[in-house]
Amino acid sequence: MSDPITIFDTTLRDGEQAPGASMTIPEKVRIARKLADLNVDVIEAGFPISSPAQTEAVTRIATEVDGPVTCALARTTADDIDAAGEALADGTDTRLHTFIATSDVHIGAKFDALGDTMAEKREAIIQRAVRAIKQALTYTDNVEFSAEDAGRTDRAFLCEIVQAAAEAGATTINIPDTTGYCTPSEYAELLGSVVDCLPNPDAITLSTHCHDDLGLATANTLAGVRAGARQVECTINGIGERAGNAALEEIVMALTVRADQFDVETAVNTKHLTPTSQLVSAATGFPVQPNKAIVGSNAFSHEAGIHQHGVLKERTTYEIMSAADVGQDAEQIRLGRHSGRHGLFNRLDALGYEVPDAHRDEIYQRFLDLADRKKEVFEEDLEQMMETFGSDAVASAKGLADNGAATNGGTPAYRLHHLSVQITTDEEPQVSVRLRRDDGSVREEEATGEGPVEAVYRAIDHAVDEPHTLVDFALQAISEGADAQGEVEVHVRYGENEFVGHARDTDVVRASADAYVNALNRLAAARTNAESVEFVRNGIMTAYGE
Ligand code: KIV
Ligand code: ZN
Repeated sequence: MSDPITIFDTTLRDGEQAPGASMTIPEKVRIARKLADLNVDVIEAGFPISSPAQTEAVTRIATEVDGPVTCALARTTADDIDAAGEALADGTDTRLHTFIATSDVHIGAKFDALGDTMAEKREAIIQRAVRAIKQALTYTDNVEFSAEDAGRTDRAFLCEIVQAAAEAGATTINIPDTTGYCTPSEYAELLGSVVDCLPNPDAITLSTHCHDDLGLATANTLAGVRAGARQVECTINGIGERAGNAALEEIVMALTVRADQFDVETAVNTKHLTPTSQLVSAATGFPVQPNKAIVGSNAFSHEAGIHQHGVLKERTTYEIMSAADVGQDAEQIRLGRHSGRHGLFNRLDALGYEVPDAHRDEIYQRFLDLADRKKEVFEEDLEQMMETFGSDAVASAKGLADNGAATNGGTPAYRLHHLSVQITTDEEPQVSVRLRRDDGSVREEEATGEGPVEAVYRAIDHAVDEPHTLVDFALQAISEGADAQGEVEVHVRYGENEFVGHARDTDVVRASADAYVNALNRLAAARTNAESVEFVRNGIMTAYGE
């Protein structure tokens, strides 16, 4: 049978020490409740001596959040221990965690008052640790001791201090790699050396606490587990001092997915990993990078054609765990310029489009053209792409692309051949357009305006011979993201009649120009086509399906 491993979450203490991550007391209580849903074993809720708000957060979590043990941090001074003990006093299941630095570099920089020589200072540090542990035991029988910067501590001294801590009554001994300096094999060896020097290692829970300065926090933690640690200290999303702490979600899923490598089991309810990550991200204002392992929005998405083909056939070809297991509702297949036909037609099928073989090449090509202009192609983009590709709309879709859909199948009066827009911060936008007439002549015009669209419309007005009034302009985003497609609808009036033009593009100025030319083509067609004039008299003529 595997050993249970204690998941010690320090998001609210070490995590909050990340520059800019401070959380309010209600936010901390909400996160602690979420950590309880996640079923972590210990929540390190704060460092009470450091502020009244830290004290209150610890007290509220200790008294209001059921499930995990609530832990408070303290240095080895009497005041610190009292502050932590009092903050925890009303809690039912509590732990007091005390720490002191043990590496020569820390001792040299911090403890001048403890003696003249390194040996004297080390001796004083041991005495302080022992005294603090004994004082902590007056508040709770669950006491943890940490040898800060153990990763760079002299091994013989580390052995001495952990022996003394165990003898004083600490039940958990933590070996922090405070500066993220260790490599996995080194950290494993360090933990092994601590196991070897404890007289009764089974009576002590040995703990990891790894920082991510070299990006090795998770790897070091897992190496520590293999070396005998049965507690891991970690934070949600890996937030923490400097580069952060080991990420809880990574450790938990590594221990779960690769249980064959570790003889331990966690009690974590992994389905809460992503919601907890999102809550912490919202409370701290630290976004989760899309490629973040386990909880990132891309962690279960596939864009490359070969991968999409693989996962559609057999999910496990490219996935070692399922999105649902970690509470992600991820879209597996994300469409972009690397996607293949399989991914595209599978999604179109799911959206209800039956694409005949004869049209597949052209649709795939249109998709690639769109994907070249957009980082990601969303369902709304596909729907609009297919809308312009309806069975009898092939011609109209083509026409729309060159502003001609409005001319009842005839040659459009105007085609937009060139558009250039110059925008600077201190001058009005400057625009130049080149329109080709159906008789082959070309008109090039320039204009300025309050904004780029107004300038474009003025330039187009100069280039066409259609008297008209612009009566309406509407722009809306029809897909997601900063590179969303914009749809423009323009109404122009001539006499009693109104003509509507539409266009869509990822460039909204381009879409505005196309829609305008499209409406003017409708108007031009109506004026030169008696039948159309009759048809549109007193009505609205649109670019689509009239
Ligand atoms: O990194 C560290 O050494 C710590 C201790 C207080 C455990 O956070
Ligand atoms: Zn730390």
